[in-house]
Amino acid sequence: MEAGTPGGISVQDEAVDKSNFKKCNQIAFYRRQKLLRPGKSLYRVLLDSVTLSDENVKFQIIHEGNKVLLQVEIYEIEGNIFRLKIDEASPLRPRYKVPDVLIKEPTTQRLLISHKEAGILVLSSVNEDYKLRVTANPFQVELQSKGETVMSVNSNGLLYFEHLQPPPSDRYTQNEEAASDSSKEKQEDLGLWQEKFGSFLDIKAHGPTSVGMDFSLHGYDHVYGIPQHTETLLLKNTSDGDAYRLYNLDIFGHKIHEKIGIYGSVPLLLAHKPNRTSGIFWLNSSETLVDISTKAVHTPSRSAAETAKQRAVPLTDVRWMSESGIIDVFLLMGPTAFDIFKQFAQLTGTQALPPLFSLGYHQCRWNYEDEQDVKAVDAGFDAHDIPYDVIWLDIEHTDGKRYFTWDKKKFQNPRKMQEHLRKRKRKLVVIVDPHIKVDPSYILYAQAKEKGYFVKDRNGQDFEGICWPGSSCYPDFTNPDVRKWYADQFAFKTYKGSTNILFVWNDMNEPSVFKGAELTMQKDAVHYNNWEHREVHNLYGFYQQMATAEGLIRRSSGKERPFVLTRSFFAGSQKYGAVWTGDNTAEWSYLKISIPMLLTINMAGISFCGADVGGFIGDPEPELLVRWYQAGAYQPFFRGHSNMESKRREPWLFGEKNTQIIRKAITERYVLLPYLYTLFYRAHTAAEPVMRSLWIEFPGKMETFDVENEYMLGKQVSYSLQFDLNIFEVLHDKKKTQKLWEPFCLGFVFLQIPVFQRGGTVIPLKTSAGKSTEWMIDISYELHVALDAEACAIDLTSTCFLINPFHQWQGQSELKTVESRKTLLSCSDGKKKEVVFTYDTKTSALTLENLALSVDADWEICIS
Ligand code: NOJ
Repeated sequence: MEAGTPGGISVQDEAVDKSNFKKCNQIAFYRRQKLLRPGKSLYRVLLDSVTLSDENVKFQIIHEGNKVLLQVEIYEIEGNIFRLKIDEASPLRPRYKVPDVLIKEPTTQRLLISHKEAGILVLSSVNEDYKLRVTANPFQVELQSKGETVMSVNSNGLLYFEHLQPPPSDRYTQNEEAASDSSKEKQEDLGLWQEKFGSFLDIKAHGPTSVGMDFSLHGYDHVYGIPQHTETLLLKNTSDGDAYRLYNLDIFGHKIHEKIGIYGSVPLLLAHKPNRTSGIFWLNSSETLVDISTKAVHTPSRSAAETAKQRAVPLTDVRWMSESGIIDVFLLMGPTAFDIFKQFAQLTGTQALPPLFSLGYHQCRWNYEDEQDVKAVDAGFDAHDIPYDVIWLDIEHTDGKRYFTWDKKKFQNPRKMQEHLRKRKRKLVVIVDPHIKVDPSYILYAQAKEKGYFVKDRNGQDFEGICWPGSSCYPDFTNPDVRKWYADQFAFKTYKGSTNILFVWNDMNEPSVFKGAELTMQKDAVHYNNWEHREVHNLYGFYQQMATAEGLIRRSSGKERPFVLTRSFFAGSQKYGAVWTGDNTAEWSYLKISIPMLLTINMAGISFCGADVGGFIGDPEPELLVRWYQAGAYQPFFRGHSNMESKRREPWLFGEKNTQIIRKAITERYVLLPYLYTLFYRAHTAAEPVMRSLWIEFPGKMETFDVENEYMLGKQVSYSLQFDLNIFEVLHDKKKTQKLWEPFCLGFVFLQIPVFQRGGTVIPLKTSAGKSTEWMIDISYELHVALDAEACAIDLTSTCFLINPFHQWQGQSELKTVESRKTLLSCSDGKKKEVVFTYDTKTSALTLENLALSVDADWEICIS
């Protein structure tokens, strides 16, 4: 811990201190917005201003109090998406509009004005399925699908827009002496032109700029999404406490069940009810707070016979509040969860297809000390017959935390070390943090300084903060020239000692600034085009990963897929690689919470995610470690990692019995890779999340809506985290089945602890694992066929789809085995041929072996 911390103080210990971080009521724009209570909105539509074009419908709204005009634009976007943009009609200066997150300007469809009278404007979608009822006074929008109201906007009157004002000349920010004490106090309280937090002062050059709006989701009482928080899958009511905060922060030792923002933010919220899923994507990269309140509303019954009666219908109110920018919100109309995923991907892109090796197991630690240590750990995996693909180097591998360099004593010949790993068909990942050590003799620093590539402070000097190397500057990744320059650093010629088996880990990119306000960058720091940091804060890590991925693509002349892990992320980060949940703790509760956290990140478009196996901070008891391996093996990104102060925990250090269980878990992962890779292909091409909450697969089953210890991996495989149950007892003791979601015991076939295959599906597997993915080219495939309760035959083509990741090496792999349960089968490939089979009466498994079918050719298996 001491190493790398400036002045020998344990900076991270400081970070545990909760007083370093704001509670909602310490956030000035939140306090200001909360002064506006639900009620009649003061905004009114100027119906005379309505204009209609091919692209959108535009009109102005006026605030009855301050008479400020806002411009509203409504768009219909192909694929059941509506976009609502609200900006000042004539702002003093342009307001920040998030660039680079939408993959392209969305294709719009012409809305029709189907009705305009008596204070109501009705807009229809081309296919007439959707109607937007815009009420003029007060301004409200109701979104209906085939007559059913799905969502309404500003129905609680919480549209909030602070228009830009010139700094009043007597403001004490301009002339401190002139302001009276009481006016100082009032301004401080509202934090209009400056805001204090502890010893930090945020000077707001452009004054108050915050925006907010409310949405009512009709008939919904289950809402999900808006990662990242250490919270339950189902979002909670925030009426009595803190709002969900979206503000990327480095919180070492973060607690669970808190709504403070950690590391990454995706402002996408999903709402689900049995027949419909809807989404709200609030495109804003400044600090954002989300209030949620679910209630039952009483509406008159529609049936004439019951006119006197009232029906209680759930309704969820969601209030978004952002510190800056404009209101730019996408209403995703589903109607299914898979439609929402497609709609979000249509806007922000799909998951990058990971290189196969990165789906294997990763071994990380802060730190693997030197070349000998790396070689010894690598050899340890072989000695203990445990598959793994990648060994990782943390910050200590560098020369004094100067990224893109090597500690010359510990890593005397990094190329040779990589050649050693390459021969063993393994890869290396090294850390590249964003902060750059202030050191004129460090080429990266000198170049960036000279080119003016660092973020500036409010006085125009390079912003300096403290991070691992001590005094550091921060490249301004929002500038495209900086991103290009940064990407160039990964060229083999420039990054000395790197080879094409080296991949990258971007950490501390919230950005983490040890002595900064809330351990991050001052909001009044200044970026490219003069935008304040407050506007772009949640995008900093997104941009670093973008530049890094671009660098890895370019170094291979566009031939190879990159692998980049990032800690900080935003909407769209899925295009650039993987994310992980940061510094978790080696406790059971953190293993438990990792599942809802990962499910939430998956829902927000980022399929390639994982949590540090074993827990980063502390030392897991062996059983926890073993259980964590069993869990991680069925999560998209699978990496063991531990803190500097934690004891070594390579998988073989906990006795033979534990080694054996860990070996089995990792081996199961490798055997499952054909299926997992196929899921990633689906995530990449069709935006289907790899890891899915049960409600996504069973949208009509209300009992699944809050399940967060069980989930689906794709459509075919389910995983269930069970701490206290012997799964065999569960399967054989009827009374215990209620502890597992019932269909797991009925419609699913038990595969491994605690993994089930869904009845009526086929999954492709390898027949065994190899030392790493690259060792597995020639290993045969196996199909697992699980019949559902009624089926006596199964159509393989409709349920099994295999993307062969091993194909690129032109291995000789063939389909060797079909394992089928509860049926009889015969097989043919052109000519019919007899196949030998075995049948296990205990498990009702029928196995056909040595089929010698090519995975590239067409063939048919007939089950009769
Ligand atoms: C913080 C990261 O979250 C952790 O994974 C890493 O080991 C340390 N930084 C040191 O780089």
